[in-house]
Amino acid sequence: MPGVGPTDAALMIIGEAPGRQEDVEGQPFVGAAGRLLTTLLEGAGIERASVFITNVVKCRPPENRPPDPTERDACHPFLLQQLESIGPKVVCLAGRVPAEVFLGPQVSMSTMHGKSYERGGRTCFVIYHPAAALYTQALVDVMKEDMSRLKSLLDQGTGASAEAKDGQQSLAKFFGKPSKA
Ligand code: URA
Repeated sequence: MPGVGPTDAALMIIGEAPGRQEDVEGQPFVGAAGRLLTTLLEGAGIERASVFITNVVKCRPPENRPPDPTERDACHPFLLQQLESIGPKVVCLAGRVPAEVFLGPQVSMSTMHGKSYERGGRTCFVIYHPAAALYTQALVDVMKEDMSRLKSLLDQGTGASAEAKDGQQSLAKFFGKPSKA
């Protein structure tokens, strides 16, 4: 399931991996978590159809387990190619798995969500995975705030609201271009 959306999208959302429903339909985020993602996007004034949505891993891991490092690595060249050809202004990392892939293994979702990070010349923005908020209204409220920050960032076009300086274990290798920062 490669992903769906305009090939010149200003926003790319990267989730973890397709789930059962996504596997059946061949579309990302079409199950319960996907419906919440759509509601949150549209609530912030971001049209879902304007977003390119994909995942770190392109195939559904058995029994919905998180993708393992071998699977992440196997799919990474495809994700890089997608980033390179779409060239989004903002890359939104939905959940721990994509955040780890782009920001390193030390991610703390509770401190990093709702902020942006310059990596490899790209602006990455971290949100919780919508599945985490499915049964927790408090997290839905947090995600609403994060989505409006994401919308402001998109409207600004570029520029990170918080630039993590501790990324010396540069993740430039994950991106096509070296950082301009
Ligand atoms: N969860 C994800 O991370 N991606 C999907 O496409 C669906 C659910």
